[in-house]
Amino acid sequence: MITTRVTSPFGFESTAAEVIVGIDLHDRRALVTGAASGIGVETARALAAAGAETVVAARDLAAAELAVADIRATTGNPAVSVARLDLLDRGSVDQLVRDLAGPLHILVNNAGVMAVPELRRSPEGHELQFATNHLGHFRLALGLLPALRAAGGGARVVSVSSRAHLNSTVIFDDIDFRDRPYDPALAYAQSKTANVLFAVAAARHWSDDGIEVNALHPGAIADSNLSRYYNPADLDALRSSGRYTFKTLAQGAATSVYVATSPRLNGVAGRYFENCQEDTPDDPTAAGTDAAGVAAYALDPETAERLWAVSEQMNQ
Ligand SMILES: NC(=O)c1ccc[n+]([C@@H]2O[C@H](COP(=O)([O-])OP(=O)(O)OC[C@H]3O[C@@H](n4cnc5c(N)ncnc54)[C@H](OP(=O)(O)O)[C@@H]3O)[C@@H](O)[C@H]2O)c1
Repeated sequence: MITTRVTSPFGFESTAAEVIVGIDLHDRRALVTGAASGIGVETARALAAAGAETVVAARDLAAAELAVADIRATTGNPAVSVARLDLLDRGSVDQLVRDLAGPLHILVNNAGVMAVPELRRSPEGHELQFATNHLGHFRLALGLLPALRAAGGGARVVSVSSRAHLNSTVIFDDIDFRDRPYDPALAYAQSKTANVLFAVAAARHWSDDGIEVNALHPGAIADSNLSRYYNPADLDALRSSGRYTFKTLAQGAATSVYVATSPRLNGVAGRYFENCQEDTPDDPTAAGTDAAGVAAYALDPETAERLWAVSEQMNQ
């Protein structure tokens, strides 16, 4: 087990294609959730370009077919396919798990939804952003555990979080916003903290299987569909505010691809990355291309175990 901070020659401007140079993924299988749009497409493209049999998991099958055709054409890898996945539909998650026979070497939990304006709930009654971003992926990853084990050691699970996790820990007393006023940004932040805590707990639970689970912030990427719930004026104001330096989609996918494939992460699990570097504790004054860091509450092992137990209950 590596205990020192993991660094790399890559940074803010590195692209997914650059961070995977020299890595051969032939005979490996990868699954990327939410890969019909945004950085998921570029993540799947880089993995496919390195030779991986790549599954594009998405609920919009028409968009996924277009993405797959484009990835096949640009990489020359025919082994790219679509799998239906709606993280809010347990039946869909379980069906994908049943359909995926054989080993899985890389699972990128990338799908996400942000800032849903009004309080919405999953069929089981859980707040929608938490249910999608965390609970759906939790169920998927646990379901795929036999396939990850079948990879024979060294399987990787990547949990795509966000610097937004800095805005809220998991509020265990009211995860589902039953007694507190719904706040779209806080609900997103809570779900993204859960993405980091998942990596912390899964790293411990699955260490004997050699499964390496890590989390990351991909950067601020304007060209994806994530801001679909923002009104256009607010989005324009955000883009021109200078508050963020935006990444391209290919740059936005780089940290996911790096964490999924770099040999520098052999034996590394339960950590949080940004700009292809392991992050340091959060710095509220950081802006632009600076890494914002990771909150102590998101890496806390006891909180991670508590969330794991609560998630198991919520998933029943
Ligand atoms: N863009 C950024 O600045 C930024 C910053 C920090 C973190 N992130 C994280 O990066 C990840 C990718 O986001 P992105 O920017 O590439 O946005 P995106 O283009 O909206 O991609 C997210 C994908 O998740 C899918 N998804 C949403 N709900 C789903 C569900 N119930 N079941 C299955 N798939 C579902 C979406 O599919 P549908 O079209 O069917 O809804 C979409 O394809 C997210 O986890 C996000 O939180 C992004």
